[in-house]
Amino acid sequence: MRSVIDIKELSVEEIDELVAVAKDIIENPAGYAHKCEGKKLATLFFEPSTRTRLSFEAAMYELGGNVLSMASAASSSASKGESVADTAKVISCYADIIAMRHPKEGAPMVAAMNATIPVINAGDGGHNHPTQTLADLLTICREKGRFDHLTIGLCGDLKFGRTVHSLIAAMERYEGVKFVLISPDELKLPSYVKNGLKQKGIPYEQTADLEAAMPELDVLYMTRVQQERFFNEEDYLRLKDSYILTPEKMALGKPDLIVMHPLPRVNEISVAVDEDPRACYFKQVLNGKYMRMALILKLLGL
Ligand code: NCD
Repeated sequence: MRSVIDIKELSVEEIDELVAVAKDIIENPAGYAHKCEGKKLATLFFEPSTRTRLSFEAAMYELGGNVLSMASAASSSASKGESVADTAKVISCYADIIAMRHPKEGAPMVAAMNATIPVINAGDGGHNHPTQTLADLLTICREKGRFDHLTIGLCGDLKFGRTVHSLIAAMERYEGVKFVLISPDELKLPSYVKNGLKQKGIPYEQTADLEAAMPELDVLYMTRVQQERFFNEEDYLRLKDSYILTPEKMALGKPDLIVMHPLPRVNEISVAVDEDPRACYFKQVLNGKYMRMALILKLLGL
């Protein structure tokens, strides 16, 4: 029985295997329509979500499985004081696999240690979000045709943005990858992530200037300023519109640049950019469903 809490638990070879399965699902959906018959996925989301929860649920339904879902954190027994460990033991009696999102860093890991079924981390606080990274990886693979020799700009809230932390952890393993970290001073990448890059000798530069960075990027990963992780409203209001990607800024980018965003978008990308063929954020959503299908199959041993 195996869980996925951190993207690094999946080797480069396993990522290749998941990408291959996802591509096969895209080409041959009927071949997968009954694979999870009789299996149940429980989605335990203790934080708001539209995409990730529905993506997991759609993935399980498209595999012929069923879904158990709690309405909200407020209506769950967590509001009565139940521990994550106990919840995981209880849900193990009902379901075959769990997808869990939690505001506390490490909560899905605690769930995995106590469950008797696989647990997938669907986002834990400002820490990690491995299945968003799987969506991002399939997008990079389909759009760029490779994972190596890419200059990847990450822009916005690099401090609290868990999708950024997981994407760096996944991409730093490929040859010739360079990161350009674009953020205001207050929202810089946490030192535990940066020190990892330093120790491994992976090239990165830090800047606050998106325009100056644009011309060298192969991938631009925009992020939302994570309002829910701020301690005071004033700081959020001051920082929330630090970067807004517009058609004028897109004009500075390479013709084969791809623009990604885990969504939800607030103001970081003007809607006028959606028309640009280099905008890939809605493709990412669909890719996320295919990669979650592939991951569910793998963890259920199917
Ligand atoms: C992201 C998340 O929850 O971290 N959303 C998602 O799952 N696609 C990004 C965000 O909320 O800004």
